[in-house]
Amino acid sequence: MTAITGHTTIWGILADPIHHVKTPQALNAMMHERGVDGVMIPLHVRASDLDTFVTGLRSMRNLKGFVVTVPHKTAIVDLCDEVSDHARAIGAVNTVRREADGRLVGEMLDGAGFVSGLRQGGIDPRGRSVYLSGAGGAANAIAFALAEAGVSRLTIANRTRAKSQDLQQRLAKHYPAVPVEIGTPDPTGHDIVVNATSLGLKDGDPLPLDVDRLSADQIVAEIIMQPEITALLAAAKKRGCRTHPGQPMLACQLELMAAFMEMHP
Ligand code: ATR
Repeated sequence: MTAITGHTTIWGILADPIHHVKTPQALNAMMHERGVDGVMIPLHVRASDLDTFVTGLRSMRNLKGFVVTVPHKTAIVDLCDEVSDHARAIGAVNTVRREADGRLVGEMLDGAGFVSGLRQGGIDPRGRSVYLSGAGGAANAIAFALAEAGVSRLTIANRTRAKSQDLQQRLAKHYPAVPVEIGTPDPTGHDIVVNATSLGLKDGDPLPLDVDRLSADQIVAEIIMQPEITALLAAAKKRGCRTHPGQPMLACQLELMAAFMEMHP
């Protein structure tokens, strides 16, 4: 790491717990490589202290931004001075830029990271039909980013149907031109199939969708990074599908975060 001096710019990551975070390692390495005189530090803050803490951050003049993760992604929305329409509709922010005058500008980059990872893998979602498994935090961000990317239609399938319906309604408000349906575990009839649930993370998790219905002309994408080949991806490969792993979503998101928080030399 570059030596910290009085000139060093600070970025932070807010979380509780904090010990497991990997973003500081990745962004500090990126800054070092790019010659940025900056450091990202872990900020361990309880949910009940978030308001007070964020008020203090506004006056920290050498702070240029912070990443926000569990459990603060929702609560931070109302603590920002400005939030993109996109983040407001999702109801979560994961990256905040501190402007020179102390104003805090929030954005949600989870979904953009996923779409940018797809494109990097040579898959453009524009004009394609997409089946999305899940309606939690990650799925919300991905659904909005896919609608923004111009998918031809979107089908949301989630264990808790009310959450799919809620997401469907919010999408309809922001992207009235994109048809959104509520689906079943059967992904038949879609160009791209995405797992945006947490299923696949743990050994013995049930599959997020009915893999027997996958066909070789479908692309199957994952948000789970570990293991790299989830049970879903293994089953999809077996059925002849092209697959897209979870890792690029994170790599692309780190780039987007660095750009949003102006981590330039
Ligand atoms: P994240 O922020 O990672 O998206 P989350 O908001 O808790 O986390 O969402 C987890 C997603 O995985 C949800 O879509 C959840 O389905 P429910 O909305 O029905 O809870 C899904 N999920 C988790 N465990 C599941 C299981 N055993 N079976 C089916 N879906 C599951």
